[in-house]
Amino acid sequence: MASNYLSGASFCVISGASQGIGRAIAAELSKNLGPKSIMLLLARNKDELATTAKLCESDDVKVISKSIDLASASEKQMNDVIVEALSGRKVTDFENSLIFHNVGSLGNLSVETSRMEDINELREYFDLNVFKVISLNTQFLKIFESIEDRVIIVNITSLCAIKPMSGMAYYCSGKAAREMYFKVLAEEKKHIRVLNYAPGPVETAMIDYIIDKTVNLNLKDVFTSFKNQGTLLKPEMTAKKCMKVLLSAKFTPGEHVDYFDDE
Ligand SMILES: NC(=O)c1ccc[n+]([C@@H]2O[C@H](COP(=O)([O-])OP(=O)(O)OC[C@H]3O[C@@H](n4cnc5c(N)ncnc54)[C@H](OP(=O)(O)O)[C@@H]3O)[C@@H](O)[C@H]2O)c1
Repeated sequence: MASNYLSGASFCVISGASQGIGRAIAAELSKNLGPKSIMLLLARNKDELATTAKLCESDDVKVISKSIDLASASEKQMNDVIVEALSGRKVTDFENSLIFHNVGSLGNLSVETSRMEDINELREYFDLNVFKVISLNTQFLKIFESIEDRVIIVNITSLCAIKPMSGMAYYCSGKAAREMYFKVLAEEKKHIRVLNYAPGPVETAMIDYIIDKTVNLNLKDVFTSFKNQGTLLKPEMTAKKCMKVLLSAKFTPGEHVDYFDDE
């Protein structure tokens, strides 16, 4: 596949686009899009979404931001935001349709794995990080059904999806379930390009949240030293790598590709 396969009109959805990795991916993606492209940015914080939108807008790219709580949005609401963002254009007007499932949270870091018993809290965690991700993906696939072979799906995953990390049972189990859903989808729909991209340890609010909230001293130490030694990646670095992997199109369907993997 040519490295400029996004040079035509693309329709792109990015969840969790109000800050961190999602914002950087949106900005990087926008540079690669051709004329008459549309980007739909989703998250709750309207003002921060507007800041991301400014980074992405150009003569070629129309940006639509929608404040939405993806933990509770209904399937109809998800369908409606995508259809509205199409702005009256037909799905066949687009040479590619992309969705980046970047939204994510860490879960309760103050409970030890051997003491997890608040099932409602765990269910809420899985709602945002797994079930609603699947729902949004399904709405997207239904809308773009007639051009399914032009669909590209990127799940922002983590090393934690494939390697246990002490003190992060919510996060690891959620990421593992979410990644496996996308792997099964890729297995069934070989004509859809599905990438599970693990961004590496990135300097975002998530890292500060871990250091602040975890009861696991080892986890706290690991991330505190990452932060103090300046070894965390900048969101822009991992966003660039993600786009490079995507544009090279060398990944196998559903493959887990990490920032640190050799090219
Ligand atoms: N940072 C890392 O080191 C790292 C490493 C591996 C993987 N990842 C993954 O990368 C992705 C982005 O992480 P990040 O570090 O950039 O985290 P972040 O800075 O905390 O950003 C999370 C994003 O998700 C959105 N979000 C959270 N809850 C939401 C909700 N209920 N409804 C809609 N949007 C919601 C947030 O926006 P609002 O608050 O405005 O809603 C925000 O835009 C996540 O999937 C994460 O697991 C991160």
